[in-house]
Amino acid sequence: MKYLCTNCNYIYDTAFWDDEEEVNIWQELDMCPVCEEYDTFHGIEEEVNYIDDNSRLESIEIEHFPEVIIEWDKLVVSVWNEIHPMWEDHRIASVSLYDEYWDLIEEKYLELEEEPRVVFDFDDLDEYEIRVKCSQHWVWGKRFVN
Ligand SMILES: [Fe+2]
Repeated sequence: MKYLCTNCNYIYDTAFWDDEEEVNIWQELDMCPVCEEYDTFHGIEEEVNYIDDNSRLESIEIEHFPEVIIEWDKLVVSVWNEIHPMWEDHRIASVSLYDEYWDLIEEKYLELEEEPRVVFDFDDLDEYEIRVKCSQHWVWGKRFVN
């Protein structure tokens, strides 16, 4: 998720913030860490590349394709075959789950060298969206309907 401070125009992207604890502190204070103004952060829409047609995927789509397996009450998402690099300069930074109205349910952050695979608690959503954020190739989205 990306936020913009409307006072100083600072943009922060939670997926690339190193210290998660620090993020929580700023968010709780509702204060911009740069200009220290209160109540100025607003979520901004991300540009999402949607992967629609499974039968004609380009290689860059395959590399960032979220594969989903439902295991009981868990939603297991792996970025296609877990082959995507997880290096400092090129990695999957986060995988997010959105509901049918495009409201964020949860964003899971990935560490360097970790396999690009996350597990969400899955509460019987009829329709949902997964977004995969790559540090070099933007955000990739896929809608799923049960
Ligand atoms: Fe990538």
